[in-house]
Amino acid sequence: MTIIMLGPPGAGKGTQAEILSAKLGVTTLSTGNILRTAIAEKRPVGLDAKKYMDKGELVPDEVIIGIIKDFLAGHDLGKGCILDGVPRNINQAKMLDEMGVAIDAAVSLEVSDSEIEQRMGGRRSCLKCGASYHVKANPPAKEGVCDKCGGELTIREDDKPETVRQRLAVYHKQTEPIIGFYAEKGKLITVDGTAGVEETAEKLVKALEMIQ
Ligand code: AP5
Repeated sequence: MTIIMLGPPGAGKGTQAEILSAKLGVTTLSTGNILRTAIAEKRPVGLDAKKYMDKGELVPDEVIIGIIKDFLAGHDLGKGCILDGVPRNINQAKMLDEMGVAIDAAVSLEVSDSEIEQRMGGRRSCLKCGASYHVKANPPAKEGVCDKCGGELTIREDDKPETVRQRLAVYHKQTEPIIGFYAEKGKLITVDGTAGVEETAEKLVKALEMIQ
């Protein structure tokens, strides 16, 4: 299946994408992780994107479309894919259609802005593989160390409270309209993202089984 993870920053898209990707045995395209790797490697695309990411703004569509094209060139989507963090606006959604990416479901993880602001303070992210943890809700086995790859866990630059508020504003204005776009196509699945990580995953899997 090819599944889009939608939802505000911090709704749990990356966390659920990892669980689903392991369960379904499909690859994940995370534009956020690709951009953070490009920043860490000091590549021009990353350094350019950083200016937008640090302000909580979206990176220009042409950069994202380049990332999607590179990904499609290097991956066979025959078994499906989890799209985490893309599309982010209607233009990107239309571009995916034009590139022939057939979407089976768009999952909207619903979490209120106030809960997001609280959650982000406790997020820790792996510098190496991008895995996401939470000091209380989803802690790693060893503090500061990624369970999956042993990488160092850090606080993301854009998790500062003022940047989170800006990311939420950008989400409501530019990304939320995508929910209607996929609802009209009959592809939308809405899942309450406020329960724990495992409970949310169970609800999500059940909802996906209903459409298979
Ligand atoms: P991106 O990396 O995509 O960030 P985001 O969408 O803002 O989402 P996050 O990664 O912050 O959160 P998430 O929903 O994945 O939540 P997570 O699972 O980590 O993008 C970053 C930036 O890159 C953007 O602002 C933009 O500038 C740029 N960008 C990326 N893609 C782009 C695109 N396509 N177009 C343009 N620009 C783009 O969980 C969050 C926390 O909550 C964690 O601590 C986690 O452990 C915890 N948690 C998860 N689930 C639960 C739960 N059920 N209960 C309690 N805690 C939970």
